[in-house]
Amino acid sequence: MSGIPPDPSGPPPGRAPVLCGVGGWLPPRVVTNAELSQRLDTTDAWITTRTGIRGRHAVEPGQATSDLAVEAGRRALCSAGEPAVDTVLVATTTPDRPCPATAPLVAARLGLRHVAAFDVSAVCTGFVYGLATAAGLIAAGVSERVLLIGADVYSSIVDPDDRTNAIIFGDGAGAVVLRAGEVDEPGALGHFDLGSDGDGEEIIMIAAGGSRQRGSDRPPTREESHFAMRGKEVYRHAVTRMAASARAALDSAGWKPGDVDHFVGHQANLRILQSVADDLGIERDRCARHLVEVGNTGAASIPLALDHAYSTGLLSPGARVLLTGFGGGLTWGSCVLRWPDLSQEPDGRRALGKDRQ
Ligand code: UT7
Repeated sequence: MSGIPPDPSGPPPGRAPVLCGVGGWLPPRVVTNAELSQRLDTTDAWITTRTGIRGRHAVEPGQATSDLAVEAGRRALCSAGEPAVDTVLVATTTPDRPCPATAPLVAARLGLRHVAAFDVSAVCTGFVYGLATAAGLIAAGVSERVLLIGADVYSSIVDPDDRTNAIIFGDGAGAVVLRAGEVDEPGALGHFDLGSDGDGEEIIMIAAGGSRQRGSDRPPTREESHFAMRGKEVYRHAVTRMAASARAALDSAGWKPGDVDHFVGHQANLRILQSVADDLGIERDRCARHLVEVGNTGAASIPLALDHAYSTGLLSPGARVLLTGFGGGLTWGSCVLRWPDLSQEPDGRRALGKDRQ
């Protein structure tokens, strides 16, 4: 059975979530393909040809998702020029602990005590689901300003001896601030497409650690305790689901693929992004390719790519941006926005100067 079809008229008139700040943080340690090929049965040539990835960042022992999220959140708040928010959302697959959520801790460490704070769990689509959640909270008048952080420490769940996954994933965090504003102002998010297919649960999973395994009477194996992905199947789903979701969001926004100035797809594999772009009819040079430097950073991949595009001058005010996520669940989602003029926000970004990654 399929869901209720989306309202073709798009978001209701009234309050809209407006992007007013962006930031990212990567742990300093870089793991190159050359380093990986010294300890795994792989090569730089295999990794770059099959994925496009040249490097990824990794936390130091003892660093957790909240440590990255706090840094990214601080930078996004600074970029928005106004440190106050009333809601903090953290999209992650690697919370500091199974319980409680990571968002309240992140909020407290940012000095945002007593705000609403919870995690969004949609694997690599978590950031897009988080945008939709923030949009709903703002539209309903529950929240005025939301800090949404996508943060993941995949090095904590990927088996370092698993050559298929160890070469793909990296650690990092990206964040945006959303404020209540008008539907037609630059930065307003609109025209979401979200979906899932739980029949694909087993193609991306950590089998152990949840109630299914804990309720059984045997301890988990090493394999069950780590992140597992059936790469080829995921690849196929990623291409078709991302293209269909992006098309749905574009159609409901009334945009043609040629209108898109910057396509920020989930940074999993350059070949996937290029196939999706080709399928949609978006020029390949309009695709974000931040993964070349940072790998697949899970829920952080879209906000990190946005922050990178913004800080390197690839995103000018008014640019039409398409965001598309895909990940475990299976889950997928897209939304569109016109890039805002962040210099119009009370600007803390410049004060940050060389501190930025
Ligand atoms: O973030 C969630 C979404 N994730 C994704 O979208 C990831 C989607 N999947 C992929 O990006 C790709 O499927 C991978 C990068 C994971 C794998 O690339 P592939 O082109 O699908 O390779 P494959 O799994 O078909 O493997 C081809 C060969 C195999 O050897 P045989 O059976 O042909 O002899 C693998 O054993 O490459 C081998 N292989 C490797 N060789 C060198 C697998 N991993 C490696 C490696 N280095 N790291």
